[in-house]
Amino acid sequence: MNRECLIRVISCLLAALSQVNCHSISGSNATLNLPEIRGDKFQYFGFGSNMLIRRIHIQNPSAVRVGPALLPDFRLDFALESSRWNGSVATIVPTQGDHVWGTLWEIDLTNLPDIDDQEGVSLGIYEPRTVYVKLRGESEPTPARAYLLTKQPTSNLYELPKDSIPLSRQPSKTYLQCLVKGAIESSVPEDYVQRLRSIKHNGRANSDMERKLDLGSVTL
Ligand SMILES: *[C@@H]1O[C@H](CO)[C@@H](O)[C@H](O)[C@H]1NC(C)=O
Ligand SMILES: *[C@@H]1O[C@H](CO)[C@@H](O)[C@H](O)[C@H]1NC(C)=O
Repeated sequence: MNRECLIRVISCLLAALSQVNCHSISGSNATLNLPEIRGDKFQYFGFGSNMLIRRIHIQNPSAVRVGPALLPDFRLDFALESSRWNGSVATIVPTQGDHVWGTLWEIDLTNLPDIDDQEGVSLGIYEPRTVYVKLRGESEPTPARAYLLTKQPTSNLYELPKDSIPLSRQPSKTYLQCLVKGAIESSVPEDYVQRLRSIKHNGRANSDMERKLDLGSVTL
């Protein structure tokens, strides 16, 4: 190998190494700078099955309930069929004038990768986003981590005639029972619980989740 070539190889290696370094530095800064992180905890807004403490504790045992939280100018919708639940799962979609109730949790920062895993972030199913929620009795909005489906629905569920809602937009009975039970447990307003109950479901159950989360007796 001549000298010139050797120099080129070395400078290539150095360039590659510095790129690797830059990535890891900016990666960790990107996470540490998230507004929902405070010290060694982060705040997470659960609006789907993770309103229910028994559900969130399966993968995130360090989650502590802060309280019910309101997310303005978003709607709750259902879009991706999940075999775990036997029907479509929830997402939130920016929608002026609508709102979503959910549960604000405080979770150890060390569990952040666990909740990313539960939401299938590395598989491209959900993506994390910082949203600003309102807690009762607090005037300042609270930043929280939330997960939105990467393939968001293009139509608004509540504008579709109820008898023409496609199966791909219907949660299973079990999943909807989980949302209703979690919403009641989280003390969200009664009219929101009623709104959840009125969402069209596909009539299917997932007996395993139904048993694990004790959902059989939840009325819709
Ligand atoms: C990461 O954060 C540290 C400390 O705040 C800062 O010194 C450094 O320049 C940041 N690096 C990048 C790539 O932003
Ligand atoms: C999903 O629902 C169908 C129809 O009700 C049922 O036959 C099937 O066993 C359910 N799957 C699971 C995993 O529970």
